[in-house]
Amino acid sequence: MKILVIHGANLNFLGVREPEIYGNESIHDINLKIKKFCKEKEIEVEIYQSNYEGDIINKIQQHYKISDYLIINPGAYTHYSIGIRDAILSTKIECVEVHLSNIYAREKFRKESVISDISIGVISGFGSNGYLMAIDYIWRKK
Ligand code: DQA
Repeated sequence: MKILVIHGANLNFLGVREPEIYGNESIHDINLKIKKFCKEKEIEVEIYQSNYEGDIINKIQQHYKISDYLIINPGAYTHYSIGIRDAILSTKIECVEVHLSNIYAREKFRKESVISDISIGVISGFGSNGYLMAIDYIWRKK
């Protein structure tokens, strides 16, 4: 079982960036939590962050037939990246969309996601626990 976790735009700034919305944990803290959880469950995980849409597309393509699942928080790309959507569709990788904040309780433009309808499900508003919830779902499913 191999999972690719992708953090998109501006998520490298977690802990600094609007902590009242995204919390105080850094991306490093979150990645450690993800790695520990995956180790306990004997899941192989690769974690990747980029602020560049094309790099995220390349990473998804590289995992064609390599990873079984993708857990992705695309950041702002959630709301408009047809390129990332197409990469997920092209590779047919099963995907769970995660957001730290509840995107449905914020600005109107955040309620729209171009990833949700091609995902198994969306976890939004549970902070960094959302990543663990997604991993736990995948683990129970296998
Ligand atoms: C986010 C929500 C997005 O609307 C925003 O652009 C982000 C983070 C979240 O995790 O809550 O960068 O994906």
